[in-house]
Amino acid sequence: MTDKHFDVLLIGGGAAGLSLALRLAPHARIALATKGPLPEGATLYAQGGISAVWDRDDSIESHITDTLSTGAGLCDEGVVRFTVEHGREAIQWLIDQGVPFTRETRPDGTLDYHLTREGGHSHRRVLHAADATGRAIEMTLEQQARRHPNIHLFENHIAIDLITAAKLGLPDHRCLGAYLFDRERGQVKALRAKFVVLATGGAGKVYLYSSNPDVSTGDGIAMAWRAGCRVANLEFIQFHPTCLYHPKAKSFLITEAIRGEGGRLLLPDGSPFLEKFDPRAELAPRDIVARAIDYEMKRLGAECVYLDISHKPAEFIQTHFPGVYARCLEYGFDITKEAIPVVPAAHYTCGGVMTDLHGRSDLAGLYAIGETAHTGLHGANRMASNSLLECLVFGQAAAEDIQAQLLDTPAPPPVPEWDESRVTDSDEEVVVAHNWDELRRFMWDYVGIVRTDKRLQRAKHRAELLLGEIDEYYGNFRVTNDLIELRNLALVAQLIIRCAMLRKESRGLHYTLNYPEPDKSQPPRYTILTPP
Ligand code: FAD
Ligand code: SIN
Repeated sequence: MTDKHFDVLLIGGGAAGLSLALRLAPHARIALATKGPLPEGATLYAQGGISAVWDRDDSIESHITDTLSTGAGLCDEGVVRFTVEHGREAIQWLIDQGVPFTRETRPDGTLDYHLTREGGHSHRRVLHAADATGRAIEMTLEQQARRHPNIHLFENHIAIDLITAAKLGLPDHRCLGAYLFDRERGQVKALRAKFVVLATGGAGKVYLYSSNPDVSTGDGIAMAWRAGCRVANLEFIQFHPTCLYHPKAKSFLITEAIRGEGGRLLLPDGSPFLEKFDPRAELAPRDIVARAIDYEMKRLGAECVYLDISHKPAEFIQTHFPGVYARCLEYGFDITKEAIPVVPAAHYTCGGVMTDLHGRSDLAGLYAIGETAHTGLHGANRMASNSLLECLVFGQAAAEDIQAQLLDTPAPPPVPEWDESRVTDSDEEVVVAHNWDELRRFMWDYVGIVRTDKRLQRAKHRAELLLGEIDEYYGNFRVTNDLIELRNLALVAQLIIRCAMLRKESRGLHYTLNYPEPDKSQPPRYTILTPP
């Protein structure tokens, strides 16, 4: 019997999932499933830090104004205020858990946390642990989750699909659990729960070049959509301006905090260029910087631009950016002495599963938190370091909401086992590998930093063909990790394209040559897709 029952089934162990798990664990039995080893996810690789109003000279209103301005008119102001107002508390919680944020001695002799700057922020308000903030957060929370008797880990278990009452023909419109593929044993398990939480991260792997780890394949968005939940604003894919340009570096991110501390972006001839595009230059929001780089690379036929912080003292660079310094050295670049080659890469999924202030989705019993959710915080462009904050604030909000309902919510009914009676082992794995490559390449070429109606139309056509082929394959063969991910990537790609085609204007991260200006004839609106 593989059917197991918990209070909460939590899918995803990044900042969002772990904060929810640790807050709920004193009250609930939690199954925590992660696709690979527990720490593997975007959180582990986060560099720059986490934003919050910490400095006495900063203010909640200023953080709100900066977030709204970066979001290009599409943020939900209530959600922005809610998130920003909970910022200090979220940071304090991390400090209480033992996260070792970098400290400094201030000019008045007091010891406090060092605050760095990133694009869009008008104040220093980014707390960080050198340049490996995500690692510090993930490792600290992971240790506690592993020790907690109420958190039951299912590592190397990839969720395939949600189990809903509707799919079982039951009257209640509710989420009852999920089917998970145990990657080590090659078996599918059904896990039932009173509440299911998607904390599965973003979908950067839809693109050929991405700063994201391999697990970021949009699974939560795809599963929620198939279970009947609306998604919003998926056209807003953020491209990080500076990933290391080196064939072996796998789009290694070079933190924006380098620009926050004085790093300059240069053309191949050594000249700065960002002032031409925005008076904030290096500290303009990411959409502007990434588009400027894309424009200059295309104009000059250049393979990359350059990032230079070598004018700063070597000791300062090595202390503030030890991870970037060491990693660049591995590829033969010494950032204390020279400019390094950089290019933009897909980085963050601003849209996602539509949720409210408690992290509730459209389906009763189903929550979505972290990068997989669309809360309304980021609008048309996420401000740097606001996403870890969102993970923590909404992890807490969802935990509190679930806790309040736990006692009154009955256990879900038994659910059927996964049916493999009509499938066989795949005879042609090459189909999966080929479709995976094709998908990521056409998304990069046709649905990238600069879009056109024609490119989107081409991408739509290809996505439809691939989806048809993948569905047929999925119906005939036993599931594998790659097949599950490909099926989700193709669906999310299609949703991104559909959202992009519906937006007949340029706004924030969505830039199209056919409509190069924001549409001023009507108030800014979300792009919302509703499942059939
Ligand atoms: P993740 O941390 O991505 O975790 C996702 C989890 O879901 C993983 O445990 C994964 O195994 C699991 N999962 C996924 N699919 C399945 C499935 N089907 N079944 C089971 N488990 C599944 N943001 C900032 O605010 N500041 C920064 O400095 C910063 N730097 C960044 C640097 C890099 C290189 C990257 C890639 C992102 C950065 N971001 C930063 C963004 C931020 O890190 C992410 O938005 C955030 O960490 C997402 O957290 P999460 O908990 O939602 O998801
Ligand atoms: C970075 O360090 O540049 C990434 C910050 C972010 O994505 O918020």
